[in-house]
Amino acid sequence: MIELRKIAGDNIDEVIALEVEENQKEFILETTNLRCFADAHMLNADGIPATPLAIYADDTMVGFLMYIYDTMDHESFENEVFYGKKSYFIWHNMIDKSYQGKGYGKLAFEKMLMDIEFMPNGEAEYAALFYHTSNVIAKTLYASFGFVDTGIIQDNSMLMIKNLDGKITESLVGYDLSERNVSY
Ligand SMILES: CC(C)(COP(=O)(O)OP(=O)(O)OC[C@H]1O[C@@H](n2cnc3c(N)ncnc32)[C@H](O)[C@@H]1OP(=O)(O)O)[C@@H](O)C(=O)NCCC(=O)NCCS
Repeated sequence: MIELRKIAGDNIDEVIALEVEENQKEFILETTNLRCFADAHMLNADGIPATPLAIYADDTMVGFLMYIYDTMDHESFENEVFYGKKSYFIWHNMIDKSYQGKGYGKLAFEKMLMDIEFMPNGEAEYAALFYHTSNVIAKTLYASFGFVDTGIIQDNSMLMIKNLDGKITESLVGYDLSERNVSY
């Protein structure tokens, strides 16, 4: 079973120890889980809600992801329909190198989208993310959940967007929408 759990004193060391392969570091923009966790605190302090979550498979930590709630107001978005709109932006997403390719990334991403569907930080029209243009696995994964390329490329990373029209979980069988799936 895949679960997303809050990061606290009892699991932060494990989050920091998670690693991607050397040749995957550019896919996460050469950042680290520790730096992302620090970003989350700084963003929260600035009033931009950031949600860093540890990914567990049957009680073993296998990955880390983070989303933020923000306005799509970067100047390069000015001519886009989503300019100025609220979005849940997936800031970071990784599965440790020893646990990749086992289906955890997909299940965790699905759980995260279910969480976002509850609009935990406020209403939003979009979910968005960047992926490195050579990261075929990430692109395929996100496209399978309805994210589409925008054509906006920054630092070799493509902006993908998904309209949050309430259809994320409609097709998912057996998910109890009365409960959020994230354990806090
Ligand atoms: C990208 C990442 C999160 C995917 O997680 P994962 O657990 O490895 O992937 P999954 O096993 O859940 O597979 C998800 C999909 O990716 C594709 N995929 C997975 N492994 C693959 C491989 N070795 N070759 C090709 N496609 C692959 C498949 O399409 C798969 O979907 P399917 O099983 O329905 O066909 C993970 O590999 C990772 O952390 N990579 C390094 C960091 C990174 O790239 N992060 C994303 C930044 S945008």
